[in-house]
Amino acid sequence: MATEEQLDYGSSFEATLERSKKLEQDLQKQPGKYKVLTGDRPTGRLHIGHLFGSVQNRVRLHRIGVPTFIVIADYQVLTDRDTFDKISENIRQLTIDYMAAGIDANDGKTFIFPHSHVPELNQLLLPFLTLVTNAELDRNPTVKEEILASGQKRINAGMYTYPVHQAADILFCKGTVVPVGKDQLPHLELTRTIARRFNDRFAGNKPVFPEPQPLLSEAPVILGLDGSQKMSKSRNNAIMLSADEDETAKLIKKAKTDSERNITFDPVKRPEVSNLLLLVSLATGRKPAEIAEEIGDGGSGKLKQVLTDSINEYLRPLRARRKELEQNIDFVRETLRAGVRAAREEAVKTLDEVREVMNMTI
Ligand code: TRP
Repeated sequence: MATEEQLDYGSSFEATLERSKKLEQDLQKQPGKYKVLTGDRPTGRLHIGHLFGSVQNRVRLHRIGVPTFIVIADYQVLTDRDTFDKISENIRQLTIDYMAAGIDANDGKTFIFPHSHVPELNQLLLPFLTLVTNAELDRNPTVKEEILASGQKRINAGMYTYPVHQAADILFCKGTVVPVGKDQLPHLELTRTIARRFNDRFAGNKPVFPEPQPLLSEAPVILGLDGSQKMSKSRNNAIMLSADEDETAKLIKKAKTDSERNITFDPVKRPEVSNLLLLVSLATGRKPAEIAEEIGDGGSGKLKQVLTDSINEYLRPLRARRKELEQNIDFVRETLRAGVRAAREEAVKTLDEVREVMNMTI
């Protein structure tokens, strides 16, 4: 059935950015009016690309007082990976990373939970699947890219349907704001479509779901230490939050630079050097060009020294909290359990409403 209106994944980026800016202003004014829903797959520990790219933005929203649910999408790991032996460990390490970065998940309005522990959330997937067509799922640009990148020949159905599952992640608690990077916009568009179609089909004039809005963060593009591609653990070019100071120094020593001695900030012509300068800038709050000028003829040796010192200094308190949490794993587990309890409470209520409007009460 789905409906005649076609899902448009490519709606204007500029318009989305404009709306996102307005949303940001209103969030500052009325944080309590919104509910942030955000999430990650538990595929490993976080690195400084995640920290500067998305985690800090979440910490910021959290600190201005917006109630926040952070979903750890453990089922989604199964869609494009063969291994599952580390999922449980990754859930805990991810939680430690969030908490060490400044998310207080015990403040009564911020919750971290793996979605596999919330049956009522997962059950929303079934009606949601009837609201989209195969063709629409097939056209999802982010899924297409991930399929190409995974190199798999046999694509499981979970790969095509995980964006619908993601809609359940967002709508189970009636999330209204989803901080996202560009690659997640198609999933959010799908979520909005599902919310709208659900309301149209089942809810008459009393909508059950809000249409959640994307909050585009102006996250800098952070390259790995090889300077040629995005920072990522699997490409071995990342500085993990959990690395110690010596490991960090060693990694940075091996970072790629270029043969010109004088350090300048020029992202187009000198991507490697500029990326290192950007990282110093993010860790110190100073301008990249200014840092470059100061280093000048000190060359890449000096640049690497400055970067090592600034990253290690910047991460010192986070790493100390990280260590403490690692030694206190029961507390981390209890935080997750509390997150699951809170999420279930929301999901049960929502599923009740959903069953009611679908005429499935007994
Ligand atoms: N698909 C997201 C990613 O790969 C993770 C995710 C799952 C998510 N559920 C979510 C993100 C809900 C935001 C909201 O990064």
